[in-house]
Amino acid sequence: MDWRRALHAVAETRHSLRPAERRTGGRSLVAGANALFRAAEAERPPASRILADGYAARFAERHPLVQAIRVGRFVAPPLARELARLQVAHCTRHRALDALVAEALAEGFTQVVTLGAGYDTRPLRIGGPARWFEVDVPETAALKRRRLPESPATAIEADLIVDGLPLAGTGFDADAPACFVLEGLVHYLPAATLDALLATMGAGPRRRVLLSFIDPAMVPRASVAFTSLVKVVREAPRQYLTPEALAEHAAPAGLRLTGHWPFAAQVAAFAPGARGRAVGVSQDVARLDRP
Ligand SMILES: C[S@@+](CC[C@H](N)C(=O)[O-])C[C@H]1O[C@@H](n2cnc3c(N)ncnc32)[C@H](O)[C@@H]1O
Repeated sequence: MDWRRALHAVAETRHSLRPAERRTGGRSLVAGANALFRAAEAERPPASRILADGYAARFAERHPLVQAIRVGRFVAPPLARELARLQVAHCTRHRALDALVAEALAEGFTQVVTLGAGYDTRPLRIGGPARWFEVDVPETAALKRRRLPESPATAIEADLIVDGLPLAGTGFDADAPACFVLEGLVHYLPAATLDALLATMGAGPRRRVLLSFIDPAMVPRASVAFTSLVKVVREAPRQYLTPEALAEHAAPAGLRLTGHWPFAAQVAAFAPGARGRAVGVSQDVARLDRP
């Protein structure tokens, strides 16, 4: 690992979410951190937890940078505070998307395609008769296959920026209803890639897209601890959207905004366990439909 690069990222951090540079390829450390958040949440008493993901602990990220951050929280209270808030933000939106995916299945969607799936374990936790597909970069997909061999999902290894959404030949039925899930992904993508993906996802008989995104209003709310963290792991956000901008991006693909939940609405509608817990930056959740 390049410690000098990590120290430089912290040193140059200003109160900004703009990335100093972008990581290309490689396993996502944020996906591993999210799994750690879900594993920690699962250990809370049932009455006060946001969700319970019994598989998340299998993805405990052992990368030295993540280990250093975990140890760092014992000596740096602002870091400990930020990690606790990020756990609440992540688990709340994950719980919201759990509920929205379950709703889509109940409404007759027979295929679920998760883009940037990371270590999401919904195919095992939600299951049902649907066919599940998961797209991620080869390094993340390979680790997931090793640690979750019983997953019923079809893994599709692809870089969405380079390859688009390569569904041909995977068993995906273009004539059947499909629900697409993009959680914690949109801010990794250039706007042109998002538009191209929306066009692919919107093409078909009955289509739903469930996604999370970062509203630009979050930028001034980001703490120095947060900006340092995402820069150190080289996964700083590169795209922000208002709900109105999201609706504009979706319209050419025939997709209409049918639901939007900022953090407080996620808590109210889906995640009562998050009530009263502190949060910092968070992602909004939205639903797009092609009727
Ligand atoms: C922040 S993680 C979110 C993972 C998971 N959806 C969650 O919410 O815990 C972002 C995921 O998107 C994947 N990703 C980012 N850019 C990608 C790209 N260009 N092509 C495919 N996957 C990508 C990363 O590998 C990572 O697994």
